[in-house]
Amino acid sequence: MKFFVDTADLEEIRDLAASGLLDGVTTNPSLVAKTGQNFIDVVKQICEVVSGPVSAEVTATDHATMIQEGRKLAKIAKNVTVKVPLTPDGLRACRTLRDDGTMVNVTLCFSPAQAILAAKAGASFVSPFVGRLDDIGEDGMALIGDICQIYRHYDAFTTEVLVASIRHPGHVIEAAKMGAHVATLPPKVLRQLFQHPLTDKGLAAFLADWQKTGQSIL
Ligand code: G3P
Repeated sequence: MKFFVDTADLEEIRDLAASGLLDGVTTNPSLVAKTGQNFIDVVKQICEVVSGPVSAEVTATDHATMIQEGRKLAKIAKNVTVKVPLTPDGLRACRTLRDDGTMVNVTLCFSPAQAILAAKAGASFVSPFVGRLDDIGEDGMALIGDICQIYRHYDAFTTEVLVASIRHPGHVIEAAKMGAHVATLPPKVLRQLFQHPLTDKGLAAFLADWQKTGQSIL
């Protein structure tokens, strides 16, 4: 399973990239707005830190302008993945950008039917939002299970399932059990994955015992 980080915060990205666990980055207009910086500059800087796919989202809603925006974003760096919304215009733009050779992430997916359309449009990634479905009392992880099951039936569907809107480590574990290709994690959730109280307790006991020996490895 690949790990992307869901943020436009460059300091966070640098810190997490140093862990060696980061395979890519996803941003969206809300995350870019939080940085208060110029979108193009932010994407450029992220692409200098991370060599894997970096999602940068178009903000137009008509396909012609989406294609113009997508082509501009794709020129920033070779690892830019253009993110388009799951709308008829978005999927039309997806097909054109894929024909250009650009990676495309189709975002705001909330149903298996939409995920089938994204695969048929040749998306590199589809982003189902699990947390936002949970927030309205639906089952976000059931959607991931459905999409993984459907995609497995068709060799021609090469779209990777990119689990988005993750709220906690349980979402990541469930997504991995279902065989989802990618999880995009808020930095806080990525850090939570390391944590277990027995790891801390065990390490403290080992170090205390080691100290009693009076030895040093170096
Ligand atoms: O970047 C897309 C998605 O991960 C957004 O998550 O937390 O705003 O629902 P959230």
